[in-house]
Amino acid sequence: MKVAVLGYGTVGLGVYEMLKTAKGLEPGPVLVRPGKDDAPFKVTSIEAIVNDPEVGAAAEVMGGVEPAFSYAAAVLSAGKHLVTSNKALVAARGIELAEIAREHGAAFLFSAACGGGVPFLHHLSLARESDEILSLGGILNGTTNYMLDAIQRLGLEYEQALKDAQRLGYAEADPTADVSGLDALRKIMLACAVAWGRLPREGLLNEGIASVTAADAAHFMARGYTCRLMARGGKTGDGIYAYVEPVLLREGAAECSVLENYNMARYEGACAGPIILMGQGAGRWPTASAVLRDLGCILLGHREMLPACCAEVPADNGGVSHLYYVRLPAHRAAALPCESAESAGGVARLVTKPMSVAAMHAFAAKIRAEGGEIFFAALEQ
Ligand code: HSE
Repeated sequence: MKVAVLGYGTVGLGVYEMLKTAKGLEPGPVLVRPGKDDAPFKVTSIEAIVNDPEVGAAAEVMGGVEPAFSYAAAVLSAGKHLVTSNKALVAARGIELAEIAREHGAAFLFSAACGGGVPFLHHLSLARESDEILSLGGILNGTTNYMLDAIQRLGLEYEQALKDAQRLGYAEADPTADVSGLDALRKIMLACAVAWGRLPREGLLNEGIASVTAADAAHFMARGYTCRLMARGGKTGDGIYAYVEPVLLREGAAECSVLENYNMARYEGACAGPIILMGQGAGRWPTASAVLRDLGCILLGHREMLPACCAEVPADNGGVSHLYYVRLPAHRAAALPCESAESAGGVARLVTKPMSVAAMHAFAAKIRAEGGEIFFAALEQ
């Protein structure tokens, strides 16, 4: 099968190179921006791909919602298969693309959009057919894991850690999506949609790592904790919870061994029990390998990852609770239900009693709206 590549950045170049030696696949035209078509295999119009009868599939690796959506829709409407690593696209318009694919008998797979090389969505889409998925989540952003690891284990400053993650090709073009937790949130949205046919939307919560300081790291590391940015999703009766936030883990927790750009995805099946998948979550070759894996699945007859009934639902994060570690202005500490607290120099560090995720995130937003600084992380028990 000849595969066109839409985009020729970090991942696109990796996909193109891998296609040269992949079993049953060969590289087709590569879509680039006007002026970047400096080789015969590069084209600048989507029509050149859609109208090419030899092209059987396209790999969309451009990122962003537009023009990626229009291109993907055109490819699928022509009856050609589409795989993508673009989580922003699938989180925003994946349900529509799945419908277009079904209508035209084409495949639409996107396991490269979550977990880099880790076959998390691939696994979930198979597991949901025979088992009930109870909960899912994990470390789903390679950039922030790389940064947190570098800050805690190597003593790097936040800015240097971010620069290194960008240089290594882990970060998004605009790394705000990584450090704010939005990238991991999009990935947990996709995982919920694949596992339960429910794509959570309103009420989603994401707290990233931008507010963690070297003093915070020194404080919680001295107490035997390691910080990781984690995404979690699950069912609450008829609803779905889905959120991203920093988590402090005790030494010995599996997530503490997740270093550099690695991801660790978990899910719990009613019969399978807990399953853990670990591997490189970002970077050219790990992500390209996931794109190629999806293309290989198409050759094996796989056609869809989103269940046909997939619908958007509001997220309900009011019913999930954690103890939280919080650093905030000392004069606001009394507003939280405390297990223990200490304060020095106008700054309090405390551990809360169990609080709902929704209440903790709302409290942090209020402190920031007042001009105060706050860092919080769930304490893993
Ligand atoms: N920026 C993303 C990450 C790339 O760091 O995880 C892989 O999705």
